[in-house]
Amino acid sequence: MTAAVRLDGKVALVTGAGRGIGRAEALLLASLGAKVVVNDLGGGSWGGGGDPAIAPAVVEEIRKAGGEAVAETSSVSSWEGGRRAVQATIDAFGRIDILSNNAGIARPRRLDAWEEADWDLVHDVHMKGYAATIRHAAPHFIAQKGGVIVNKSSPSGFGHYSNGAYTAAKEGVVGLTRAAARDLGQFGVRCNAIRPIARGSQMSTDPMSATLEDSEALGIPALWNRPRGLPMAVTPDPQHVAALTAWLCSDASANLNGREVFIAGAEVGLLPEPEMIRTLYAPGGWTLEAFLDPAVTAYLAGDARNRFRGRS
Ligand SMILES: NC(=O)c1ccc[n+]([C@@H]2O[C@H](COP(=O)([O-])OP(=O)(O)OC[C@H]3O[C@@H](n4cnc5c(N)ncnc54)[C@H](O)[C@@H]3O)[C@@H](O)[C@H]2O)c1
Repeated sequence: MTAAVRLDGKVALVTGAGRGIGRAEALLLASLGAKVVVNDLGGGSWGGGGDPAIAPAVVEEIRKAGGEAVAETSSVSSWEGGRRAVQATIDAFGRIDILSNNAGIARPRRLDAWEEADWDLVHDVHMKGYAATIRHAAPHFIAQKGGVIVNKSSPSGFGHYSNGAYTAAKEGVVGLTRAAARDLGQFGVRCNAIRPIARGSQMSTDPMSATLEDSEALGIPALWNRPRGLPMAVTPDPQHVAALTAWLCSDASANLNGREVFIAGAEVGLLPEPEMIRTLYAPGGWTLEAFLDPAVTAYLAGDARNRFRGRS
């Protein structure tokens, strides 16, 4: 018999919860009994803009279903925005137990056309923004000796054609996750990352599709080289990601801290912690001459194949 998860008495801050995955999470966590702060500035997928009605609409859905929620419309792309979102949670419900970092944008361009503003905004929303909410939630988690953080990384973090700022930011989120697990684990706090795929959200439709079409035309893998993978029997939906988030927020996953989990519809997968797959020792220390030994090249790169040259 599967144990039921209840989150009664828990308070959750979900950023970027006005749409897509964050919205599905807010609805699910509220249905499990958590009081939820729905943070979203209602921006466009390239960032900027702002529709203040997006977050209240999700709150309305939660209330209609009998749950408790409040809306919060700060941009969490700054230290101050992160502080405001956490403070709004404390002001509304007196505590914070769950922090789900979801806010996301993408500004895909090939790297010879990168603009500094694109790079900065993408990093501000994902890296600085997630660090900001974690930073300001941490004192509460430490004081109450418990809390759960769930960050959204991305399969794009493994490498995504013409989407370098996003790739770098989402990989940074994994590093942030590992660091937070180490700093906060001693206080009973857990921090894990999800690499989701979910169709139908604003981000997954609008800015990303062109990069996939371009790379396909060039014969360059747009995303990572997926070593395993089942056929996509089920269209990946935000609800599948929300279910994983709820599990990560529950005691059922108490042993998981500082890890990354992939999910796409019917498939879920735990990623390894970084590991070296081959090591060699040069007793006197490595020199260029030592690297040029054909045996060394064969061992380190013998079976390597540059898959990114494309057809040209
Ligand atoms: N959908 C996917 O396939 C997929 C894949 C990999 C990673 N992700 C990640 O999952 C998260 C959710 O993505 P989604 O597909 O549901 O996107 P979405 O665009 O549907 O939702 C993201 C929400 O974040 C909000 N937002 C953006 N900047 C914000 C800011 N500064 N402050 C507050 N809110 C902000 C937007 O207004 C939007 O409502 C993102 O971090 C995304 O990078 C999604």
